[in-house]
Amino acid sequence: MPTDDTAAVLAYHQRSKHRLDRYAPGPETLDWDAQPDPFRRFAGAPLTRLPLPADDEKAGWRELFSPGAITPHAATLKSVGLLLELSFALSGWKALGPDRWAMRCNPSSGNLHPTEVYLLASGLAYLDDGLYHYAPKEHGLEQRALLSRPPGGANTPRLLVGFSSIHWREAWKYGERAFRYCQLDMGHAIGALRYAAAVLGWRMQEVALSHAEIAGLLGLDRTEDFANAEREEPEAVFELLLAPTIPTMPGTPAEPANWLSGAAWSGQANRLDRRPMYRWPVIDAVAQASRRSLRQAVAPLPALAPRRLLPDTRVAAATLIRSRRSAQRFDRRARLDAARFWPMLAALMPQTGEGLATIPWDAGSMANMKPAVHAVLFAHRIDGLEPGAYLLPRHASALPALQAALPHLNWRPAEGAPPEVPLHELVQNPALAGTLRTLSCHQAIAADAVFVVAMLAEFKAPLGQAPGRYRELLQEAGLMGQVLYLEAEAAGLRGTGIGCYFDDPVHELLGFTGKAPDTWQVLYHFSVGLPVADARITSFPPYDQEARP
Ligand SMILES: Cc1cc2nc3c(=O)[nH]c(=O)nc-3n(C[C@H](O)[C@H](O)[C@H](O)COP(=O)(O)O)c2cc1C
Repeated sequence: MPTDDTAAVLAYHQRSKHRLDRYAPGPETLDWDAQPDPFRRFAGAPLTRLPLPADDEKAGWRELFSPGAITPHAATLKSVGLLLELSFALSGWKALGPDRWAMRCNPSSGNLHPTEVYLLASGLAYLDDGLYHYAPKEHGLEQRALLSRPPGGANTPRLLVGFSSIHWREAWKYGERAFRYCQLDMGHAIGALRYAAAVLGWRMQEVALSHAEIAGLLGLDRTEDFANAEREEPEAVFELLLAPTIPTMPGTPAEPANWLSGAAWSGQANRLDRRPMYRWPVIDAVAQASRRSLRQAVAPLPALAPRRLLPDTRVAAATLIRSRRSAQRFDRRARLDAARFWPMLAALMPQTGEGLATIPWDAGSMANMKPAVHAVLFAHRIDGLEPGAYLLPRHASALPALQAALPHLNWRPAEGAPPEVPLHELVQNPALAGTLRTLSCHQAIAADAVFVVAMLAEFKAPLGQAPGRYRELLQEAGLMGQVLYLEAEAAGLRGTGIGCYFDDPVHELLGFTGKAPDTWQVLYHFSVGLPVADARITSFPPYDQEARP
């Protein structure tokens, strides 16, 4: 029997679907000049500027995936600066006519960036033990609270990164569908942090906390500090594992709620939107229904498995991460050779054995669970692969259920697929590119890409176990998107997330019948292709180097 919360989540998912004849409820007009402030600040909180490390981090992209290849950096303010720079800092400014907007290392639906980042630090030289809010425009830490008692030993550095979502940032533009986008963005954020930690030779592990505990730990429940400001939804907290030795027990901090008891707080959250024109109460309802009221079980951290199929690139990981961008247009004549294609798909496979995972699949709730989101590949122009639809089950156990749900499809092993990539041909069809364009809200990138991936989730069964799985499924799909963004760059191509697609028409295209409509759901599309630059847009560096300390 579904609980009320499961029913609420399922109902939300249903009503936030885009349909061919009607988009999900959203604002009818947008006042672009009244766009919410893209930067949350806490007035009155002391700001510590983080060092902007010079471009001297030479670890190669390929090295990230060989356990032990990168010597772990010491926990210093400089390495914290690099960690946050490579994950959430500005990566540049763009200008077109009078408009000027910031780009960041992590992508975000509509460039609206609902994800806020917090740092809990102790035992670090030049930084008081405390809770900090990361301010990307300044590349600085706003001190929210000074810890009254440091966790762990007095001088043992500990670093935790916490996440929250400001729903209004997305809801302002996208209305009811915004909750999904916040969760997809969270998946991208987890990936961005995991790759940045890997550059430093660090690992990370989710801390087992309920959502109420996360709110307490990050100060999100301090009503007085958010008076007149948009509230933040607690999402997740990760501990960075700084030593090469991997703890065998989950990194649950002892009584995290106590860390901040008696702490001295500072800062008043800024209001992002002075004149909100709409309200979307269904977003509050789905957030409430998908909150974890109990701590989740966190299994021991999996050991790192080396990745076997790697892209043929010598690029430094930091350079690749800083230059990641979304393509706005693709060259529709471009083709992709097999040598660059298969490593990209292999990167989506967690390659888990018992207690083993490749980066970035060793972090987050996904580390403890079988993958539940699979990749439907729409191959438009890939050498050696007939145009058509293919399926990559990200865990072998999903295959029989998928075959039973879609018995009319070919289910032949895809030609040329290496053993790491168990790709199955569903159907050959050279006309799918046009269909994909229509089904991706008529966006040309879905047809002009060399391939598109639709993230197909096992849906109703996981939600029946716990309504909180809704967030995790969307985050898993978002993390797959982050992998594709960076792997596309490594292959000399570019990716673009596609959150706008017509849900049920995509299910119908695949052949899911009306009998069990919620058993499988597509949660995200992602396109990869050869980008065409927009010459009208000018780019500027992210920070004025001269003005920095
Ligand atoms: C979850 C998600 C959904 C997105 N959906 C779309 C989309 O439907 N169409 C599109 O052109 N770009 C889409 N994007 C790309 C964003 O617009 C892009 O990430 C943002 O403008 C920031 O630019 P950047 O990726 O170059 O940093 C999406 C990105 C994310 C993370």
